[in-house]
Amino acid sequence: MIYNVITLFPKIIEDYCAESITKRGIKNSVIEVKTHNPRDYSLDKHRRVDDTPYGGGEGMVLACQPIFDCYFDIEKKENFEFIMLTPQGEKFSQKIAKELSSFEQIILLCGHYEGFDERIRLGLKPREISIGDYVLTGGELPALVLIDSISRNLKDYLGKDASSHNDSFSEGMSGLLEYPHYTKPREYKGMKVPDVLLGGNHKEIEEFRKQQSLERTQKKRPDLLN
Ligand code: ADE
Repeated sequence: MIYNVITLFPKIIEDYCAESITKRGIKNSVIEVKTHNPRDYSLDKHRRVDDTPYGGGEGMVLACQPIFDCYFDIEKKENFEFIMLTPQGEKFSQKIAKELSSFEQIILLCGHYEGFDERIRLGLKPREISIGDYVLTGGELPALVLIDSISRNLKDYLGKDASSHNDSFSEGMSGLLEYPHYTKPREYKGMKVPDVLLGGNHKEIEEFRKQQSLERTQKKRPDLLN
């Protein structure tokens, strides 16, 4: 999977991706993350990328020219999706993460300042995605959220001892929250690991986990059961 991130703050993306599982995913060539700075495309002599809004009002608006030129300079694969990160978009979910993982290339457009010149939407027709009903200062955190959650669905991304199959919300979990986990020791500060997990009866363990998933979902996220 190739991710192209259009951002005025490439270092945020690069620094995050240089750590942990993302770093390994890049090293193993499961993913590639490239950043593209619209400022490098600005035709303005001061390399400006924003301007004041027509009609007045507060804040600055990201202008068309640097974004259009930056977007069209990105080499496209046959099977790519272009996404604008914006609080106005459809709400991101595990289902969308899974769906997006089938593309060869994802181009992510991060906003900053008050917003985008509307002609960026009209001219480039991005799919608009929001990571939740709150407003962030820029699209970089949302872009990283997408990169992380989409990549978890890619073959060979999580390494041989891990899988996204049993993640909360995933198909393997029938859309439920994940069951509780325990590791050594058997007892810590008086809290014991449930006996069933120590017994080695796989059928009983599976039943227990299924029941726990259902109970947790009922308690914490009853909306998921509807
Ligand atoms: N940019 C600012 N806030 C955002 C949000 N909630 N989701 C996606 N992009 C954003």
